[in-house]
Amino acid sequence: MPEKSGIENLLHETRRFSPSSEFVAQAVAKPELYSEAKADRLEFWAKQARALHWHKPFTKTLDFSNAPFASWFEDGELNVSYNTLDRHVIEGRGDRIAIYFEGENGDTSTYTYAQLLTEVKKAANAFQTLGLVSGDRVAIYMPMVPEAVIAMLATVRLGAIHSVIFGGFSAESLRSRINDAEAKLIITADGGYRKGKVSALKPAVDEAIADSACPSVKAVVVLKRGGNEVSWNQNLDHWWSDVVDSASPEHEAKAFGAEHPLFILYTSGTTGKPKGILHTSGGYLTQATFTHKNVFDIHPTKDIYWCTADVGWITGHTYVVYGPLANGVSQVIYEGTPDTPDWGRWWKIVEKYKVTILYTAPTAIRTFMKLGREIPDKYDLSSIRVLGSVGEPINPEAWIWYRDVIGGNNAPIVDTWWQTETGAIMISPLPGITATKPGSAMIPLPGISMEIVDDAGKKVTSGGGYLTITEPWPSMLRGIWGDNERYKETYWSQHPGKYFAGDGAKLDTDGDVWILGRVDDVMNVSGHRLSTAEIESALVSHPFVAEAAVVGAKDETTGQAVVAFVILRSDQVAAAGSDSDVSKLLRDHVAKEIGAIAKPRTIMVVAELPKTRSGKIMRRLLRDVAEDRPIGDVTTLADTSVMSVITDKLEAGATD
Ligand code: PRX
Repeated sequence: MPEKSGIENLLHETRRFSPSSEFVAQAVAKPELYSEAKADRLEFWAKQARALHWHKPFTKTLDFSNAPFASWFEDGELNVSYNTLDRHVIEGRGDRIAIYFEGENGDTSTYTYAQLLTEVKKAANAFQTLGLVSGDRVAIYMPMVPEAVIAMLATVRLGAIHSVIFGGFSAESLRSRINDAEAKLIITADGGYRKGKVSALKPAVDEAIADSACPSVKAVVVLKRGGNEVSWNQNLDHWWSDVVDSASPEHEAKAFGAEHPLFILYTSGTTGKPKGILHTSGGYLTQATFTHKNVFDIHPTKDIYWCTADVGWITGHTYVVYGPLANGVSQVIYEGTPDTPDWGRWWKIVEKYKVTILYTAPTAIRTFMKLGREIPDKYDLSSIRVLGSVGEPINPEAWIWYRDVIGGNNAPIVDTWWQTETGAIMISPLPGITATKPGSAMIPLPGISMEIVDDAGKKVTSGGGYLTITEPWPSMLRGIWGDNERYKETYWSQHPGKYFAGDGAKLDTDGDVWILGRVDDVMNVSGHRLSTAEIESALVSHPFVAEAAVVGAKDETTGQAVVAFVILRSDQVAAAGSDSDVSKLLRDHVAKEIGAIAKPRTIMVVAELPKTRSGKIMRRLLRDVAEDRPIGDVTTLADTSVMSVITDKLEAGATD
């Protein structure tokens, strides 16, 4: 049974925050949504799907006869790019701003829906000329600039499948994802602005595909953004400006089946190799559009929406690209980091564009909280009327601070629980309806069926257990790219007939959900999902390392932090140098193997690791060490003296 200390206090939360009567009066989501969905869940989703533009309407809603493989709206046909762009232009909304772009270096640009459509048509024509056809895969490795959105929409306009790889991943990670997806085209940039500098992207692509390491790749399109020098491969590389700018601005969007693959997004699991999560078209767009509109209370002619996520993560897919554009709202896209040129940058952006809806992660909120309210207080944030949180549990202190300091003690907070796999928000308050509790994601959205179960798979009505989803939902993953067995095994085997999300959760006495976090070997660092196994295998790939164990230790700002315990190979101890040398070397090695986001905060060199008699590493005990707690029960260890060997060494180290 999942356990997390401190949660009992949370469950006695008595504060409630109801929306103001003005908010309720104009709210998009009405309470009937819950009763409609309860009365007929499938008809409820069919109704939401009909709000999209279908080239050919669907007649079937759900086919789950081949469970756990689901088909939604299967005989319908649509084009996702048409739904996010053409439709607005055809229906007279072409002059509305789609994107206000704010470059970290001060560059700005705006795109109306009509302009964005033209750019997407040109990019689609350019990609087609480079040989891209429906079903092909495209790897996108770009900074957070409008062209990243254009590249995604141009890809899906052609029926091709994008796989966006976050710019912080290394050449190694890039290579394994390109090869797993067998991408034909790579879209990248020379570099982008981060922390006041140009951070290069093209060298990682060059390194990933060097020596024909990625035989599927036929062309690389390079956007000029950083202005940095790049090396050039005449056979593969094309400047974006050469191929896109001169392409025809005419392109008709063809219809594809509702189950046509839309994108693959790699995410960390409990084993070493990231999984390519597959999403398809009609169901995904239905739930992305419905949740975006209702959870964020979108009034497209009035709102300026800003989701701070990068398009390299699922939040950027669903709540920067597909949901907002399908709903025709105006949004801000910011390229850089919140501290550049200073920690007022985000609030300056809110003031400048009069942002009305802000969606971000608890890590950012906690960081701002630590820096003090003087910074946001310098700016006019009075335009904000809805605040969103995603990616990790939000502690009540951060929740209250967010509401008070950023939301003027008035804006409702939507704490949204979901995952790469769920494609869209699953559990969240609805801002004009729910009286929220700080720290609780509250209840499942209309049309979502959830159960918290115990070890035996029995439903728990109060208290803690495993968070499962009991009925298919439109934006559910359709599988793991190229590995149907792994899909069944990973998500549907622990609690037969139910999707198990990997999270523990508790129900309080009102029936509201409190997410406890992952109960598997997946860590959540600053809202980024990292696998202990993946980092362990990166560590042991270094010649100095014999064995490694990684745990996620509590961290006040980032939620969790990566802490690694390594045993050095006996013949390498001398070569490895001091513990601090090894630590630096191995942190850099992890950055090279996976990406800087996976760098352990701490590496502890130890002589032994605590293992059970069957050889399983007892991470619970290592977490005790990493969090500086008294060591828990050691009786199941094969060698009960191991923990004192570890702690003695660390204590000795601390006094050195
Ligand atoms: O542990 C949950 C946590 O993030 C995990 C999913 O990570 P990822 O696929 O990268 O998607 C993140 C953005 C949707 C979940 O298994 N998580 C996500 N949202 C919340 C959360 N934990 C607590 N509260 C949330 N609101």
